[in-house]
Amino acid sequence: MSYIAAPNRYSQMQYRRCGKSGLKLPAISLGLWHNFGHVDQLENCSNILKLAFDNGITHFDLANNYGPPPGSAEENFGRLLKRDFEGYRDEMIISSKAGYTMWDGPYGDWGSKKYLVSSLDQSLKRMGLDYVDIFYHHRPDPETPLEETMAALDLIVRQGKALYVGISNYQAEEEAAKAIQILKDLGTPCLIHQPKYSMYERWIEGGLLDLLGNEGVGCIPFSPLAQGMLTDKYLKEIPLDSRAAKSHGALQQDQITPDRIRQLNELNAIAAGRGQKLAQMALSWILRDERVTSVLVGASKPEQLADSLKCLNNIVFSADELQKIDQILAS
Ligand SMILES: NC(=O)c1ccc[n+]([C@@H]2O[C@H](COP(=O)([O-])OP(=O)(O)OC[C@H]3O[C@@H](n4cnc5c(N)ncnc54)[C@H](OP(=O)(O)O)[C@@H]3O)[C@@H](O)[C@H]2O)c1
Repeated sequence: MSYIAAPNRYSQMQYRRCGKSGLKLPAISLGLWHNFGHVDQLENCSNILKLAFDNGITHFDLANNYGPPPGSAEENFGRLLKRDFEGYRDEMIISSKAGYTMWDGPYGDWGSKKYLVSSLDQSLKRMGLDYVDIFYHHRPDPETPLEETMAALDLIVRQGKALYVGISNYQAEEEAAKAIQILKDLGTPCLIHQPKYSMYERWIEGGLLDLLGNEGVGCIPFSPLAQGMLTDKYLKEIPLDSRAAKSHGALQQDQITPDRIRQLNELNAIAAGRGQKLAQMALSWILRDERVTSVLVGASKPEQLADSLKCLNNIVFSADELQKIDQILAS
């Protein structure tokens, strides 16, 4: 039987305005970096997407290289859009990116106009879409002039292949500030920045969040659970069904040291005091800052996403809780 979205899907989710734009994003967005490739089970992918959409997650984040193999997450997403979500496209924000190695030769990587335009054309074909809602440059290119990369984003919007554009992994001063200014001058404002941010990765507190807040650009942190470390998964050991145990996982087993396990257990105790699981506290901790538009989570099972969604019940932290968390992270 074909899928019918839950009628009450907009009742629990919070939507935050993306910078100074007209677009609102759900406080929680779903990323398809892992768990949506041809190596994964299509029905599990479908169940995760349905659970997300039924709970007001309207934003799905992809990239040309997500899989494995590269491109297969977009293919699977496109297949499921057609099969399960027909009629719901206008309720969705679909993002893609280009910036990492995608095909052989000098035009399949980094930030030239040639690469970005061709890559987005390929992404649209794989997903069966006429346009994406947000198209990102995935990482800064040290060789291509920033003016060319930003002109490619501007062109893509003018061609109607993306409604908005963003940048990802750009450092605050030299890269993001300049990119934001160039896009402003071109008349295609930078909608959003996608940086890595979690309790274990706090570089954006050193200037990027201020820049984005001042410029009216949204912020969507990725890997907020530090790829699953900030959950109850690794409190004792490395489970066999975890990203750290998988050969294609980007999380290395040697990152889960005895010291890290001790810290995670201490953080878990604080979460319990707040009536939360560790994953929920890690997501709430990111959403405590109003300059964060949405937090971009991954999930390997629908149950994990259902669990993560409950972070929205408590996103306020006392000064004492924040201090204790910082002390644990510094210990
Ligand atoms: N722009 C960039 O350069 C960039 C880079 C990386 C990611 N991203 C984006 O950010 C998205 C999220 O990244 P991520 O997958 O690293 O995020 P994450 O949310 O930090 O980690 C997700 C993983 O944590 C585990 N997990 C999730 N919820 C859980 C729960 N409630 N309880 C226990 N375990 C849980 C699962 O791992 P198991 O497999 O172990 O179950 C899941 O696959 C990506 O899909 C992508 O869209 C962007």
